[in-house]
Amino acid sequence: IYDPESFNGIKEALTQICMVALREAYPQLEIEQVVQPSGKPMFGDYQFNAAMQVSKELKNLGIKCAPAEVGKAIASKLPANKIIDKVEVAPAGFINMWLSKEFCRNLLLEQVRCGIKPPKLEKRLRIVVDFSAPNVAKQMHVGHLRSTIIGDSIARSLEFLGHDVLRINHVGDWGTQFGMLIAHLQDTFPNYLNEMPPIEDLQKFYKESKLRFDTDEDFKKRAYECVVNLQGHEKDHVKGWQQICEISRKEFQSIYDQLNIKLIERGESFYQSRMESTVEYLREKGFLEMDDGRLIMFGLEEGNIPFTIVKSDGGFTYDTSDMAAIRQRIEEEKADWIIYVTDMGQSNHFKVLYSCAERCGFYDPSKVRIDHVGFGVVLGEDRKKFKTRSGDTVKLQELLDEGLSRSEETLKSKNRHNVLTPEEFEAAKKAVAYGCIKYADLCHNRVNDYVFSFDKMLDDKGNTAVYMLYAVTRIRSIASNANITSKQLIEAAKTERIPVDHEKEWKLVKALLRFHDELIKITEDLCLHHLCEYLYDVASSFTEFYDACYCIEKDGKTGEVLKIHMDRLLLCEATALVMEKCFWILGLTPVSRM
Ligand code: ARG
Repeated sequence: IYDPESFNGIKEALTQICMVALREAYPQLEIEQVVQPSGKPMFGDYQFNAAMQVSKELKNLGIKCAPAEVGKAIASKLPANKIIDKVEVAPAGFINMWLSKEFCRNLLLEQVRCGIKPPKLEKRLRIVVDFSAPNVAKQMHVGHLRSTIIGDSIARSLEFLGHDVLRINHVGDWGTQFGMLIAHLQDTFPNYLNEMPPIEDLQKFYKESKLRFDTDEDFKKRAYECVVNLQGHEKDHVKGWQQICEISRKEFQSIYDQLNIKLIERGESFYQSRMESTVEYLREKGFLEMDDGRLIMFGLEEGNIPFTIVKSDGGFTYDTSDMAAIRQRIEEEKADWIIYVTDMGQSNHFKVLYSCAERCGFYDPSKVRIDHVGFGVVLGEDRKKFKTRSGDTVKLQELLDEGLSRSEETLKSKNRHNVLTPEEFEAAKKAVAYGCIKYADLCHNRVNDYVFSFDKMLDDKGNTAVYMLYAVTRIRSIASNANITSKQLIEAAKTERIPVDHEKEWKLVKALLRFHDELIKITEDLCLHHLCEYLYDVASSFTEFYDACYCIEKDGKTGEVLKIHMDRLLLCEATALVMEKCFWILGLTPVSRM
């Protein structure tokens, strides 16, 4: 159970031990129960709360046994192990457990020596994470930014755990709007077949073509013809479509590059031939119904709205692309798990999707896990929908640019430009700007709306990226200020032990060893704010430790180093390692100086 190679986190290890005891004490019952961290120090570090349920089920079998008795019976069967130091059974039957200091300090030392390994994977899963997904020629807005940030972090967590993750960008690159875009392209840049049209502002181009579409009957007719030609794969129309997509793609890619986000583009257009075959299949099997010229499909759930599979003009929809995509992901990609990251506004769309996919046999919920990771809307500081002062939707590039200049201001106000080299300053500026935007998004429960405020996210106090980035540079500087090199630390890890005797040392050690538990929790509810709360907890435990325990003792007057506590420097190192792993998952870039 405590072999570091198969170590699954403290919580999982204790759960295994307690479950062995439970099965041994009550072989007739089939109960699954997990250990939880205790709420108060007087209840130990972790608790196992199966007694109530056991007592109830025994009663159903005609056996009377109070929870306190059950608790004692289970506790007496706990197998010998190195993790638990002390056990107490509370009157309500809770089994309170205290961790072994010896076990914990060894485990942490192992992490300093070999790096932090992910918990052992029971099965490597093929996981599709569908995120970001902006729409071509339309604005990539803050909702897409949320999807991009949250989706990337979820993908990172799953990748760190060792899963096989496919990061898919389901770009909105198909649909009838391309008819008017191509018609407008033909008029404005007739040479588009030979050279890339110099469109500066694609959104403006979109608005122009929309205006013509709404006001000019001839143009509208041509736009429809263009759609038909495009879907018929007519060469020149396909070329125009490609060029418009290419302009969008460059804009999106520049945002992904700045935020260091990797995605595979597989837009709605990718599924065109699969949509055709899917529609054919659904028609043959009798799942489609005629409704006012459209072909619609109902899911299994009664009373929910149907999907529109074929429009009255014969075109496909967003719904059709998602039906083809879910089928492709399960049948061709062999996905064990599909995760969709979009705003909460689409949760009903996804309910209908699962339901239709299950009804027609594309998806079997007992074999494939599907989650819709929904999130709230981004609000301005006035708590109204996030807009620019002039009332326009905020352009993402402008938002990132503002982040950079605000970050620069903040660092300059702390006089960092006179302390850091230009390269260090530039790195700190970017780490703070992109880090604060990501962290502010991730540290809130994603289902809530969230207020976008540069002032709040650039605060260096509280649970913010700036605070965290500073914390790690400070921790790392403790050893380097005493001229201890990382080589010396590695050397020290061979002989020194992790300190646990001081109350604050022990508290920090336990916090650091919760990392695996927190990661596993994320795979359950896909909420990243747990990890941010955890990070904050680690940083606070570190501050308490550092305030109470000297790492380097100096002469008060001369500043001369009197004593170096190597063991405590190892604890600092362990803290930095855990925090940096969290940074990696949250997409934050640590800096050496800031
Ligand atoms: N393009 C869509 C939007 O902007 C999001 C697509 C999400 N993914 C999906 N498979 N439906 O709302």
